[in-house]
Amino acid sequence: MSAPALPLARPANPPRDMASLGAEQAKGGASPLVTLTGVSKEYQNGITALARLDLLVRTGDFLSLLGPSGCGKSTALRLIAGLEPATSGRIEWTGSPASGRPSIGFVFQDPTLMPWASVESNVFLPLRLAGWSFRDALPRIEEALALVGLPDFKKAMPRELSGGMKMRVSIARALVTRPSLLLMDEPFAALDEITRFKLNDDLMRLKQEMGCTVIFVTHSIYESAYLSTRIAVMAARPGRIIAEIGVDAALPREEHFRRESAYLDACAKAADALHGAMDATDHM
Ligand SMILES: Nc1ncnc2c1ncn2[C@@H]1O[C@H](COP(=O)(O)OP(=O)(O)O)[C@@H](O)[C@H]1O
Ligand SMILES: [Mg+2]
Repeated sequence: MSAPALPLARPANPPRDMASLGAEQAKGGASPLVTLTGVSKEYQNGITALARLDLLVRTGDFLSLLGPSGCGKSTALRLIAGLEPATSGRIEWTGSPASGRPSIGFVFQDPTLMPWASVESNVFLPLRLAGWSFRDALPRIEEALALVGLPDFKKAMPRELSGGMKMRVSIARALVTRPSLLLMDEPFAALDEITRFKLNDDLMRLKQEMGCTVIFVTHSIYESAYLSTRIAVMAARPGRIIAEIGVDAALPREEHFRRESAYLDACAKAADALHGAMDATDHM
Protein backbone atom coordinates (compact mmCIF):
# COMPACT_ATOMS: atom_id res chain seq x y z
CA MET A 1 0.00 0.00 0.00
CA SER A 2 1.46 3.35 -0.92
CA ALA A 3 1.64 6.03 1.72
CA PRO A 4 -1.07 8.64 1.28
CA ALA A 5 -0.23 12.33 1.17
CA LEU A 6 -0.61 14.41 4.28
CA PRO A 7 -3.71 16.56 4.15
CA LEU A 8 -3.22 20.24 4.79
CA ALA A 9 -6.45 20.65 6.73
CA ARG A 10 -7.28 20.30 10.43
CA PRO A 11 -4.43 21.88 12.34
CA ALA A 12 -4.08 20.52 15.88
CA ASN A 13 -3.01 23.90 17.21
CA PRO A 14 -3.72 27.32 15.78
CA PRO A 15 -1.13 27.42 12.99
CA ARG A 16 1.54 30.05 13.28
CA ASP A 17 2.86 31.92 10.34
CA MET A 18 6.07 29.99 9.79
CA ALA A 19 7.26 32.35 7.05
CA SER A 20 7.17 35.26 9.48
CA LEU A 21 8.70 33.03 12.16
CA GLY A 22 11.52 32.22 9.75
CA ALA A 23 12.05 35.90 9.01
CA GLU A 24 11.99 36.66 12.74
CA GLN A 25 14.60 33.97 13.30
CA ALA A 26 16.79 35.28 10.50
CA LYS A 27 16.90 38.54 12.46
CA GLY A 28 17.67 36.54 15.60
CA GLY A 29 14.26 37.55 17.00
CA ALA A 30 12.50 34.22 17.69
CA SER A 31 12.25 33.52 21.38
CA PRO A 32 14.54 30.95 22.97
CA LEU A 33 12.74 27.74 23.93
CA VAL A 34 15.46 25.72 25.59
CA THR A 35 19.08 26.52 26.40
CA LEU A 36 21.68 23.88 27.22
CA THR A 37 24.72 25.30 28.97
CA GLY A 38 27.79 23.19 29.67
CA VAL A 39 25.75 19.99 29.66
CA SER A 40 27.75 16.82 30.25
CA LYS A 41 26.61 13.23 30.55
CA GLU A 42 28.79 10.50 31.93
CA TYR A 43 27.31 7.03 32.12
CA GLN A 44 28.08 4.65 34.97
CA ASN A 45 30.40 2.63 32.72
CA GLY A 46 32.66 5.71 32.52
CA ILE A 47 31.68 6.72 28.97
CA THR A 48 31.41 10.47 28.51
CA ALA A 49 28.51 10.63 26.06
CA LEU A 50 28.39 14.44 26.08
CA ALA A 51 31.03 16.94 27.17
CA ARG A 52 30.09 20.56 27.97
CA LEU A 53 27.40 20.91 25.34
CA ASP A 54 26.06 24.41 24.64
CA LEU A 55 22.94 24.64 22.51
CA LEU A 56 20.16 27.18 22.04
CA VAL A 57 16.88 26.03 20.49
CA ARG A 58 14.45 28.75 19.43
CA THR A 59 10.69 28.52 19.08
CA GLY A 60 9.90 27.48 15.52
CA ASP A 61 13.33 25.96 14.83
CA PHE A 62 13.71 22.80 12.85
CA LEU A 63 17.01 21.87 14.42
CA SER A 64 18.91 18.76 13.35
CA LEU A 65 21.52 17.07 15.48
CA LEU A 66 23.79 15.55 12.85
CA GLY A 67 26.68 13.23 13.57
CA PRO A 68 28.13 9.73 13.38
CA SER A 69 26.93 6.85 15.51
CA GLY A 70 27.98 7.18 19.15
CA CYS A 71 28.42 10.99 19.24
CA GLY A 72 25.67 11.43 21.81
CA LYS A 73 22.70 12.49 19.66
CA SER A 74 20.21 10.19 21.39
CA THR A 75 21.64 11.09 24.77
CA ALA A 76 21.13 14.81 24.05
CA LEU A 77 17.54 14.16 23.01
CA ARG A 78 16.81 12.09 26.14
CA LEU A 79 18.26 14.81 28.38
CA ILE A 80 16.11 17.47 26.66
CA ALA A 81 13.06 15.22 27.10
CA GLY A 82 13.89 14.79 30.78
CA LEU A 83 14.08 11.02 30.37
CA GLU A 84 17.42 11.01 32.16
CA PRO A 85 19.40 13.60 34.14
CA ALA A 86 22.55 15.40 33.01
CA THR A 87 25.67 14.75 35.07
CA SER A 88 26.45 18.47 35.07
CA GLY A 89 25.38 21.67 33.34
CA ARG A 90 22.02 23.36 32.95
CA ILE A 91 18.95 22.83 30.77
CA GLU A 92 16.70 25.88 30.96
CA TRP A 93 13.26 26.31 29.45
CA THR A 94 12.31 29.84 28.58
CA GLY A 95 9.24 29.33 26.43
CA SER A 96 5.64 29.07 27.45
CA PRO A 97 4.44 27.92 29.94
CA ALA A 98 6.92 30.15 31.72
CA SER A 99 10.14 28.34 32.50
CA GLY A 100 8.52 24.90 32.43
CA ARG A 101 9.22 22.06 30.02
CA PRO A 102 6.63 22.35 27.23
CA SER A 103 4.52 19.44 26.09
CA ILE A 104 6.83 17.07 24.23
CA GLY A 105 6.21 14.36 21.65
CA PHE A 106 8.98 11.76 21.19
CA VAL A 107 9.40 9.65 18.06
CA PHE A 108 11.93 6.81 18.13
CA GLN A 109 13.77 5.15 15.24
CA ASP A 110 11.66 2.03 15.64
CA PRO A 111 7.89 2.64 15.48
CA THR A 112 7.52 0.48 18.66
CA LEU A 113 3.81 -0.18 18.03
CA MET A 114 1.98 -2.71 20.18
CA PRO A 115 1.49 -5.52 17.62
CA TRP A 116 -1.66 -6.85 19.29
CA ALA A 117 -3.43 -3.49 19.27
CA SER A 118 -5.18 -1.58 16.48
CA VAL A 119 -3.83 1.69 15.09
CA GLU A 120 -6.32 3.72 17.15
CA SER A 121 -5.37 1.88 20.35
CA ASN A 122 -1.70 2.53 19.66
CA VAL A 123 -2.30 6.23 19.08
CA PHE A 124 -4.51 6.36 22.21
CA LEU A 125 -1.66 5.16 24.45
CA PRO A 126 -0.21 8.53 25.66
CA LEU A 127 -3.70 9.83 26.48
CA ARG A 128 -4.64 6.54 28.16
CA LEU A 129 -1.54 6.87 30.34
CA ALA A 130 -2.65 10.43 31.15
CA GLY A 131 -6.01 9.09 32.39
CA TRP A 132 -8.23 9.94 29.40
CA SER A 133 -11.19 7.76 28.47
CA PHE A 134 -11.17 6.36 24.93
CA ARG A 135 -14.39 8.18 24.15
CA ASP A 136 -12.91 11.57 25.14
CA ALA A 137 -9.68 10.78 23.30
CA LEU A 138 -11.28 9.69 20.03
CA PRO A 139 -11.46 13.17 18.41
CA ARG A 140 -7.77 13.69 19.25
CA ILE A 141 -6.88 10.26 17.84
CA GLU A 142 -8.75 11.02 14.63
CA GLU A 143 -7.09 14.42 14.38
CA ALA A 144 -3.60 12.92 14.80
CA LEU A 145 -4.27 10.20 12.21
CA ALA A 146 -5.57 12.83 9.78
CA LEU A 147 -2.42 14.89 10.33
CA VAL A 148 -0.20 11.98 9.30
CA GLY A 149 -2.41 11.09 6.33
CA LEU A 150 -3.95 7.91 7.76
CA PRO A 151 -7.55 8.91 8.50
CA ASP A 152 -8.95 5.60 7.24
CA PHE A 153 -6.64 3.25 9.13
CA LYS A 154 -8.03 3.48 12.68
CA LYS A 155 -9.03 -0.17 12.80
CA ALA A 156 -5.97 -1.56 10.97
CA MET A 157 -3.47 -3.75 12.79
CA PRO A 158 0.25 -2.90 12.66
CA ARG A 159 1.01 -6.10 10.67
CA GLU A 160 -1.19 -4.78 7.84
CA LEU A 161 0.89 -1.61 7.43
CA SER A 162 4.06 -0.83 5.43
CA GLY A 163 7.17 0.45 7.23
CA GLY A 164 6.37 4.03 6.24
CA MET A 165 2.79 3.73 7.49
CA LYS A 166 3.95 2.26 10.81
CA MET A 167 6.20 5.30 11.22
CA ARG A 168 3.23 7.58 10.44
CA VAL A 169 1.28 5.86 13.23
CA SER A 170 4.23 6.34 15.55
CA ILE A 171 4.27 10.06 14.65
CA ALA A 172 0.49 10.26 15.20
CA ARG A 173 1.00 8.74 18.66
CA ALA A 174 3.53 11.51 19.41
CA LEU A 175 1.15 14.20 18.10
CA VAL A 176 -1.95 13.06 19.97
CA THR A 177 -1.02 15.16 23.01
CA ARG A 178 -0.60 18.22 20.74
CA PRO A 179 3.03 18.80 21.71
CA SER A 180 4.69 22.14 21.10
CA LEU A 181 8.09 20.39 20.85
CA LEU A 182 8.62 17.29 18.74
CA LEU A 183 11.77 15.25 19.42
CA MET A 184 12.61 12.71 16.69
CA ASP A 185 15.44 10.20 16.98
CA GLU A 186 16.42 8.98 13.48
CA PRO A 187 12.76 8.30 12.69
CA PHE A 188 13.28 7.51 9.01
CA ALA A 189 16.66 5.75 9.12
CA ALA A 190 15.18 2.30 8.55
CA LEU A 191 13.01 3.29 5.59
CA ASP A 192 13.80 3.03 1.88
CA GLU A 193 14.91 6.28 0.29
CA ILE A 194 11.73 7.06 -1.64
CA THR A 195 9.53 6.56 1.45
CA ARG A 196 11.99 8.63 3.44
CA PHE A 197 11.82 11.52 0.95
CA LYS A 198 8.02 11.40 1.11
CA LEU A 199 7.99 11.43 4.90
CA ASN A 200 10.54 14.28 4.91
CA ASP A 201 8.16 16.39 2.80
CA ASP A 202 5.18 15.43 4.93
CA LEU A 203 7.05 16.21 8.14
CA MET A 204 7.82 19.76 6.99
CA ARG A 205 4.16 20.35 6.13
CA LEU A 206 3.09 18.81 9.42
CA LYS A 207 5.43 21.07 11.35
CA GLN A 208 3.92 24.06 9.59
CA GLU A 209 0.38 22.93 10.39
CA MET A 210 1.16 22.20 14.03
CA GLY A 211 3.29 25.31 14.53
CA CYS A 212 5.66 23.23 16.66
CA THR A 213 9.41 23.24 17.18
CA VAL A 214 11.32 20.14 16.03
CA ILE A 215 14.62 18.66 17.19
CA PHE A 216 15.52 15.95 14.71
CA VAL A 217 18.38 13.47 15.08
CA THR A 218 19.95 12.08 11.93
CA HIS A 219 23.25 10.81 10.61
CA SER A 220 22.34 11.87 7.07
CA ILE A 221 23.93 15.10 5.85
CA TYR A 222 21.37 15.31 3.03
CA GLU A 223 18.37 14.77 5.26
CA SER A 224 19.54 17.41 7.74
CA ALA A 225 20.19 19.97 4.97
CA TYR A 226 16.81 19.34 3.36
CA LEU A 227 14.74 19.62 6.54
CA SER A 228 16.48 21.98 8.90
CA THR A 229 16.55 25.67 9.61
CA ARG A 230 19.70 24.90 11.65
CA ILE A 231 22.08 21.99 11.85
CA ALA A 232 24.20 21.27 14.94
CA VAL A 233 27.02 19.03 13.73
CA MET A 234 28.33 16.69 16.42
CA ALA A 235 31.48 14.63 16.85
CA ALA A 236 32.21 11.69 19.14
CA ARG A 237 34.67 10.93 21.93
CA PRO A 238 33.59 12.95 23.67
CA GLY A 239 30.21 13.90 22.22
CA ARG A 240 30.18 17.60 21.39
CA ILE A 241 28.94 20.16 18.89
CA ILE A 242 31.63 21.11 16.39
CA ALA A 243 29.69 23.39 14.05
CA GLU A 244 26.34 25.11 13.69
CA ILE A 245 25.04 25.69 10.20
CA GLY A 246 22.02 27.82 9.31
CA VAL A 247 19.98 26.81 6.26
CA ASP A 248 18.44 30.00 5.01
CA ALA A 249 15.27 28.96 3.17
CA ALA A 250 11.67 28.95 4.35
CA LEU A 251 9.88 25.72 5.27
CA PRO A 252 8.27 23.71 3.83
CA ARG A 253 10.70 22.99 0.99
CA GLU A 254 10.16 20.93 -2.08
CA GLU A 255 12.18 18.57 -4.21
CA HIS A 256 13.76 21.36 -6.30
CA PHE A 257 15.39 22.67 -3.09
CA ARG A 258 17.92 19.82 -3.49
CA ARG A 259 19.40 21.72 -6.44
CA GLU A 260 19.49 25.13 -4.77
CA SER A 261 22.61 26.80 -3.41
CA ALA A 262 21.29 27.03 0.20
CA TYR A 263 20.95 23.22 0.24
CA LEU A 264 24.24 22.51 -1.53
CA ASP A 265 26.12 24.96 0.73
CA ALA A 266 24.67 23.35 3.87
CA CYS A 267 25.65 19.86 2.62
CA ALA A 268 29.20 21.03 1.86
CA LYS A 269 29.62 22.79 5.22
CA ALA A 270 28.26 19.81 7.16
CA ALA A 271 30.49 17.38 5.24
CA ASP A 272 33.56 19.57 5.85
CA ALA A 273 32.79 19.78 9.59
CA LEU A 274 32.31 16.01 9.86
CA HIS A 275 35.49 15.23 7.89
CA GLY A 276 37.42 17.68 10.04
CA ALA A 277 36.21 15.97 13.20
CA MET A 278 37.01 12.50 11.84
CA ASP A 279 40.55 13.60 10.97
CA ALA A 280 41.01 14.98 14.47
CA THR A 281 40.10 11.68 16.17
CA ASP A 282 41.21 8.16 15.34
CA HIS A 283 39.19 6.57 12.56
CA MET A 284 36.24 4.37 13.41
N1 LIG B 1 22.58 3.84 28.89
C1 LIG B 1 23.87 3.89 28.54
N2 LIG B 1 24.84 3.37 29.32
C2 LIG B 1 26.13 3.43 28.97
N3 LIG B 1 26.61 4.00 27.86
C3 LIG B 1 25.70 4.54 27.02
C4 LIG B 1 24.29 4.50 27.31
N4 LIG B 1 23.63 5.12 26.30
C5 LIG B 1 24.58 5.51 25.42
N5 LIG B 1 25.80 5.16 25.86
C6 LIG B 1 27.09 5.47 25.19
O1 LIG B 1 27.17 6.88 25.04
C7 LIG B 1 27.70 7.22 23.77
C8 LIG B 1 26.69 8.06 23.03
O2 LIG B 1 25.56 7.25 22.74
P1 LIG B 1 24.26 7.77 21.98
O3 LIG B 1 23.76 8.98 22.66
O4 LIG B 1 23.35 6.62 21.84
O5 LIG B 1 24.90 8.19 20.56
P2 LIG B 1 24.18 8.34 19.13
O6 LIG B 1 22.73 8.46 19.33
O7 LIG B 1 24.83 9.56 18.54
O8 LIG B 1 24.56 7.11 18.34
C9 LIG B 1 28.04 5.91 23.08
O9 LIG B 1 29.40 5.63 23.28
C10 LIG B 1 27.15 4.91 23.78
O10 LIG B 1 27.74 3.64 23.76
MG1 LIG C 1 21.15 7.28 18.61
